[in-house]
Amino acid sequence: MLAVSLDGRLAPPAGGAAQLGGRGDRRALEEALAWADAALLGAETLRRHGSTCLIHAPDLLTERVRQGRHAQPPALVLSRSGQIPGDLPFWRQPLQRWLLMPAAPGALSLTAPQPPSGWHRQLWFSSWPQLRQALAAEGLARLVLLGGAQLAGQLLAAGQVDELQLSLCPLLLGGPHSWLPASHSLPPGPWQLMEHRPLGGDELLLRYRRPPLPGA
Ligand SMILES: NC(=O)c1ccc[n+]([C@@H]2O[C@H](COP(=O)([O-])OP(=O)(O)OC[C@H]3O[C@@H](n4cnc5c(N)ncnc54)[C@H](OP(=O)(O)O)[C@@H]3O)[C@@H](O)[C@H]2O)c1
Repeated sequence: MLAVSLDGRLAPPAGGAAQLGGRGDRRALEEALAWADAALLGAETLRRHGSTCLIHAPDLLTERVRQGRHAQPPALVLSRSGQIPGDLPFWRQPLQRWLLMPAAPGALSLTAPQPPSGWHRQLWFSSWPQLRQALAAEGLARLVLLGGAQLAGQLLAAGQVDELQLSLCPLLLGGPHSWLPASHSLPPGPWQLMEHRPLGGDELLLRYRRPPLPGA
């Protein structure tokens, strides 16, 4: 799920946090986190924001705990470099931190017995379907993708995004940071519009379902 400007940008021209969404978008984001078993985010989003999104709404926290789940879903950070600065607030956030990295070709094991300092788990993955399978085997089947564009573009192009939720905000940001990088395209549509809901403050939530993949 992403908050996008009317000109399809998710960050200001200079990059970094755009503070696009208002209160309605924040509620939709927290509801998605409350539904999720885990939240995926690209390392650049984490480096730019310094932390990941937490559920703050008392009713959502209470319901997760009532269901016997952790208050916050684990943060699954995708990185090739593994370089997340040690002084980010992320390291003090009250959640599980998992580091997901592409496996070296021919790697024998995809799980690190001892994750790097600060991480609760480290997994290597060989493909997106294999990663989803490995996460499902860990009980993490319901995944919410928090961005950014590089990661969202790859997963969309690979047909790994089942639903696309955009909070459309009536701002014109300009600049190069399109929510869908030019190097990636959506699987051929049309995507089915499942929901369109005013979020207040002139924002609109649009939720689409992926079209069936060829041969599916
Ligand atoms: N409006 C919104 O809703 C929203 C949401 C999220 C983010 N954003 C904005 O988006 C911007 C950041 O997005 P971005 O597109 O630049 O970066 P991104 O997608 O957040 O992260 C890119 C990084 O993810 C890692 N990565 C990418 N592909 C990978 C793969 N196949 N396997 C493993 N790791 C992989 C790499 O990390 P390493 O460099 O560590 O190798 C790469 O540099 C920020 O400005 C942020 O504010 C906006």
